[in-house]
Amino acid sequence: MSNLQSFQITSHAPRAASHALPRHIAIIMDGNGRWAKARNLPRTAGHKKGADALRRVLDSCRNAGISYLTVYAFSSENWKRPQDEINDLMQLLQHYLQQELQTLHENNIRLRFIGDLSLLSSDIREQVAHAVEMTSRNASFNLTIALSYGSRQELVRAMQAIAADVKTGALQPQDINEQRLADALDTGDLPEPDLLIRTGGEKRLSNFLLWQSAYTELYFTDALWPDFDSAHFTEALGDYAKRERRYGTTGV
Ligand code: IPE
Ligand code: IPE
Ligand code: MG
Repeated sequence: MSNLQSFQITSHAPRAASHALPRHIAIIMDGNGRWAKARNLPRTAGHKKGADALRRVLDSCRNAGISYLTVYAFSSENWKRPQDEINDLMQLLQHYLQQELQTLHENNIRLRFIGDLSLLSSDIREQVAHAVEMTSRNASFNLTIALSYGSRQELVRAMQAIAADVKTGALQPQDINEQRLADALDTGDLPEPDLLIRTGGEKRLSNFLLWQSAYTELYFTDALWPDFDSAHFTEALGDYAKRERRYGTTGV
């Protein structure tokens, strides 16, 4: 925690604070399958351990004073996986929700989901809707789970909603702007991620938050998601604190 501590001691200027500590972290939780394979275990065992890693990281985020965590749990493209693995993942999600919902709520955490939830089974959809509603007035932390999520699909859905408004005459084409489009995305009420972490060694976004990450700092680690712990997390935060975010300016 040395980086964070030094930041807390030395910084009173809001500008410095916004650079040192991300407000919103997004994570591509990758490497569960390889973690399991290395131990001759079924892939599901890796996904189970992955759920433990999520609990850990959520705690780390809250302890560090971060306000938003968005995690990629299941992509639009993951529907192409064997049905058995999909079933296991959905069951695991249901368990996670059952086990964690009360704790999340007691800790004043607001839970959101992004993605095409219409593709989920009706019982999961109900469970998700219940969790979202139950925590909707919580304000100490924001956990968002990307489920059946793909950035391109999200953009298409947003464009369809905008086109429908144009068709009825509620919106003029020239009034479509960046803000309008951002608002129409599933992430409409979330700030853009400051830091995006991908575990598992791959250096790609795999259709995660493409629009939202235009100026996000990217951090890739070889650590497999089930192994990702508070030390890895602190390392990522330390790396982020050294970045200079210029947004196309000369940085002065
Ligand atoms: C990430 O781990 C979890 C999901 C994509 C659901 P993987 O299952 O992709 O694990 P690897 O990449 O095969 O190791
Ligand atoms: C990205 O991981 C999706 C999630 C972590 C949920 P994948 O394992 O599906 O990504 P690719 O196939 O390596 O790009
Ligand atoms: Mg993977």
